[in-house]
Amino acid sequence: MLQIKNLAVQYKNELPMIKDFNLSVEEGEIISIVGESGSGKTTVIRAIMGALSREGKISSGDILFYNQSLLGKSREEWQKLRGTEISMIFQDCGSTLNPIRKIGSQYVEYIRMHTKMSKKEAWDKAVSMLDKMKLADSENIMNSYPHQLSGGMRQRVGIAMVMTFNAKLLLADEPTSALDVTTQAQIVREMMALRDNFGTSIIMITHNLGVAAYMSDKIVVMQQGKVVDMGTRDEVINYPSSDYTKKLLAAVPEMEGESFV
Ligand SMILES: Nc1ncnc2c1ncn2[C@@H]1O[C@H](COP(=O)(O)OP(=O)(O)OP(=O)(O)O)[C@@H](O)[C@H]1O
Ligand SMILES: [Mg+2]
Repeated sequence: MLQIKNLAVQYKNELPMIKDFNLSVEEGEIISIVGESGSGKTTVIRAIMGALSREGKISSGDILFYNQSLLGKSREEWQKLRGTEISMIFQDCGSTLNPIRKIGSQYVEYIRMHTKMSKKEAWDKAVSMLDKMKLADSENIMNSYPHQLSGGMRQRVGIAMVMTFNAKLLLADEPTSALDVTTQAQIVREMMALRDNFGTSIIMITHNLGVAAYMSDKIVVMQQGKVVDMGTRDEVINYPSSDYTKKLLAAVPEMEGESFV
């Protein structure tokens, strides 16, 4: 469904940050990108989403979504794609909530922007999504302002909103790194359920190779803008080719008391 071919991305007029990046994603596949800070993970998924910062540009290569290039899509075309076909969970998506409006009214409006649901239907849908994110007393959360919630709760509201519509491709940039391990595990399970129930393809960035091993079909390891390991979960975990991946494997944290590598 998604093919990234020989992608190069550069910031300003500097040398390419990302060089010759290739990845193909099948329907229903979960792919994790791991790698050190500054290795270019966010750059890759922002390039897919057409959301590079102003200094960044794709200098060569192509990104095909169902055989159609995403490069050169107009603002209007992107507005149609985003949210319904391709969705992205940002690292700090909780902070994008409007501070002066209650969660419920924002969430209901968001749902009604994309569907023909009545207010009541949209409200119930929102509550059920919040329940899935392990937010206790969702009705109460709907009636709260963002500042009345903790940072982790806001993050979970943001994730719930992004996951409301079953996008074909979900991009997630460290969606859970600010959360405690139990909540993190719950959200990982919800993402996997999305794949199992709707065939959603997911590309997720994580610092945690344990999380990657737990949920992914394929793992991509990046270092300094280059892919140093890529393959099925078992290939990368059992037969890593780079020293960097071997080092990461030796330092894998556990998730809920279990190690998945
Ligand atoms: N707007 C920008 N202008 C110039 N350089 C940038 C810009 N955004 C990112 N970079 C550079 O590109 C490189 C990769 O950044 P990127 O955010 O993709 O890394 P990352 O792997 O997501 O790191 P982290 O794990 O810390 O989030 C870094 O060296 C960074 O300095
Ligand atoms: Mg990043």
